[in-house]
Amino acid sequence: MNRRKFIKSGSLFFAAGTLSSFDFPDAPTYEFNDKVEGPVILSTWIHGLEANRAAWNVLAKGGSALDATVAGAMHTESDLTNRSVGIGGRPDRAGHVTLDACVMDGDGRSGSVGFLEGIAHPAAVAKAVMEKTPHAMLVGAGAKQFALDHGFETIKTPIPEVKKDYLAWKKENKDLFKPPKINHENHDTIGLIARDAKGNFGGTCTTSGWAYKMPGRLGDSPIIGAGLFVDNEVGAATATGLGEAIIRVAGSAIVVELMRIGMKPSEACKEVVLRIIRKNKDLTGLQCGFIAMDKEGNVGGFSVYNGFNFALKSSLRDEMVDADFDRKW
Ligand code: GLY
Repeated sequence: MNRRKFIKSGSLFFAAGTLSSFDFPDAPTYEFNDKVEGPVILSTWIHGLEANRAAWNVLAKGGSALDATVAGAMHTESDLTNRSVGIGGRPDRAGHVTLDACVMDGDGRSGSVGFLEGIAHPAAVAKAVMEKTPHAMLVGAGAKQFALDHGFETIKTPIPEVKKDYLAWKKENKDLFKPPKINHENHDTIGLIARDAKGNFGGTCTTSGWAYKMPGRLGDSPIIGAGLFVDNEVGAATATGLGEAIIRVAGSAIVVELMRIGMKPSEACKEVVLRIIRKNKDLTGLQCGFIAMDKEGNVGGFSVYNGFNFALKSSLRDEMVDADFDRKW
């Protein structure tokens, strides 16, 4: 039985006891994949191009997929012009820039930080949480103290240009308790997934989150299984977009689980996007996108709306790929 027939065989899903027919109202027939040999890194959005090149310095020297994705993430976190990741990120409604990040390797080890303020590289701190603590996640003051104790670089945020924008926004938006409006332009997190020369996978996801979010809000990016999931037995997936919708379907974990039962990366990403579409009556501004890679080197992505793309780098390629999508804005 080939892979396609396996996917279409509902009875096998029931036998495996993993999914119900509700999850697959129509047997998937789409296939938008590309196969890449050797080490490879994928990153969300155009900022992924530069991030991939930073990551490639690690991968090309035989470094691990995890270290490569952290190096790529740190590159984007340092970009003062980026308003949704790292140092140049926008603040919450109270004026605080709070950063979220997670890392995961192919053996199932992970680390994460949330609501981290004044520290330049949340992705690196997330890796330190994984390596130096018995915990999977540190948030807020505890995460900051951990970062300070381990000598991570501090920063003053918001940076002046961002503070100016924030003060202008605040003048127009006085009601601090009203939930912020969905705005897809405020969700261009970087998620990076890689396979190294040994065939191991790793990933990192980092963001400043939803611009002018309610204080205390965490999105999908620091949550293992939502913003990122990695498993050497299968591959890896990461997410971008409206974190609330991604958390509610355990997005990246489900993409990986769908690949485990035979779907190609784009098919798996599409299934999860369709699930998000089914579960959200109002899709106004609700952009979400996933990218994924399997053990064979098939890569792909899918988003709710058009406009989502991802950067792909291998020894032969260094380019942007347009993800397929369900609908146009
Ligand atoms: N996807 C990033 C966030 O919602 O915070």
